[in-house]
Amino acid sequence: MHEQSVRLTVNGTPTAASVEPRMTLADFLRDKCGLTGTHLGCEHGACGACTVLVDGDAVRSCLLFAVQVDDMEVTTVEGIASPDGELSAVQSALRECHGLQCGFCTPGFVMSITALLRDHPDPTDEEIREGLSGNFCRCTGYQGIVAAARRASEIMR
Ligand code: FES
Ligand code: FES
Repeated sequence: MHEQSVRLTVNGTPTAASVEPRMTLADFLRDKCGLTGTHLGCEHGACGACTVLVDGDAVRSCLLFAVQVDDMEVTTVEGIASPDGELSAVQSALRECHGLQCGFCTPGFVMSITALLRDHPDPTDEEIREGLSGNFCRCTGYQGIVAAARRASEIMR
């Protein structure tokens, strides 16, 4: 298939590649950039495991083609901690509140909570549950994740 060039910024690093138009952003990040923290669960937009930030908004990378994010800025879970490895408030809060078990869903939750708190710095429980309603977790029962979102908003204020 005819390949197309795509240029984007991934976690602050300008990145260019030649890709098939049918390559999803999720596959691009995992296979072309080696950023395997973005997980694939359902691959059809239901589970949220593949959530990344595109120009700051939380999006499902399995539903976008890489060529659609040409000239845009993508942040994956690998770009959330500080360069020196210090965890973000959201990551620390997930650890503190036991918001993960197997961790498969966690990168998606980190991205969704990060975007949620940018838009709602002091969210109600309802806003947290609504903001995370597109992310599935098969292990935790969600209580720890909701507590972590609340705790992260406290840390950030
Ligand atoms: S893998 Fe993208 S939403 Fe499930
Ligand atoms: S921690 Fe296992 S799926 Fe969420």
